[in-house]
Amino acid sequence: MTIAAPADVTLVQLKRYGELIYRKIGVAISEQKATLLSNRLRRRLRVLGLDCYDKYFRLLSNASPDADEWQAFLQEITTHETYLFRDQSNWDWLRGTYIPEIQAEARKKQRTTTLRIWSAACSTGDEAATVACCLVDAIHSSNPLNVEIVGTDIGAATVIEAATTTFGERAMRLVPDTYRKRYFDKMKDGAFWVLKSSLRDLMKFKVHNLLDPIRESAFDLIFLKNVLIYFDRASKKRVLQRVREALWPGGYLITGAAEGVSDLLDEYESIRGWLHRLPTNA
Ligand SMILES: C[S@@+](CC[C@H](N)C(=O)[O-])C[C@H]1O[C@@H](n2cnc3c(N)ncnc32)[C@H](O)[C@@H]1O
Repeated sequence: MTIAAPADVTLVQLKRYGELIYRKIGVAISEQKATLLSNRLRRRLRVLGLDCYDKYFRLLSNASPDADEWQAFLQEITTHETYLFRDQSNWDWLRGTYIPEIQAEARKKQRTTTLRIWSAACSTGDEAATVACCLVDAIHSSNPLNVEIVGTDIGAATVIEAATTTFGERAMRLVPDTYRKRYFDKMKDGAFWVLKSSLRDLMKFKVHNLLDPIRESAFDLIFLKNVLIYFDRASKKRVLQRVREALWPGGYLITGAAEGVSDLLDEYESIRGWLHRLPTNA
């Protein structure tokens, strides 16, 4: 028997789900998102054979925080759009300015040779893979660095996908030909590319909620892009506090163009609109 799909959520249901989502991941759901939310919830109802949003709400409210359904719900209601080499200016800076700077400091023994980078809210790992390509390309073998790249996301399914470091043609569209040849293998089906294992070995992925502290040693560089746009001011502040705790003094934070956080980054030196440096004495 097919179960009829319900119409869009009512205002009361929207508010209830909105509060649940906000409390869990800090994402704010406005009234304009009613249809989008309904479409996404309907997919879970269909999978579970449920006929109304209230039943699903009860199921979620009674589920333990680490239940599989919570993972499926978060995966469904978040936006995962990403691709390699998003925002060319980031990568030009990384290759042309940042790596030479780090290598010069390491040569003069002003820093260790370990370089730790966090791709926060990494979705399917496209940003982390781009970091790996740019670093391997820019680091001179005469002056090696020990690179560790950590990618994290709230969506368990995206994290599993990220760990495969496999990308379709759409995600690969901005990857220069030289990089494709050097750092990826084309899969037999011809539709997918997989990052070479020497680059994959630099990376690890794990589930993490940006509202919580990340249990990792501090990072030299943090990417926090295209995620805070979905957060309200209070959640943005909370995430930025977590990020601040995870960044070494003198470290850099890269934000997305539309994040709406410029007035929350007073502690940082603003290098460019998207590039912020924590003072060395912070
Ligand atoms: C649009 S993608 C951005 C991917 C990548 N940073 C980029 O700029 O291409 C946003 C990601 O943020 C994740 N996300 C949303 N809320 C989160 C939270 N509270 N903690 C961690 N990740 C979150 C979503 O699961 C989604 O994969």
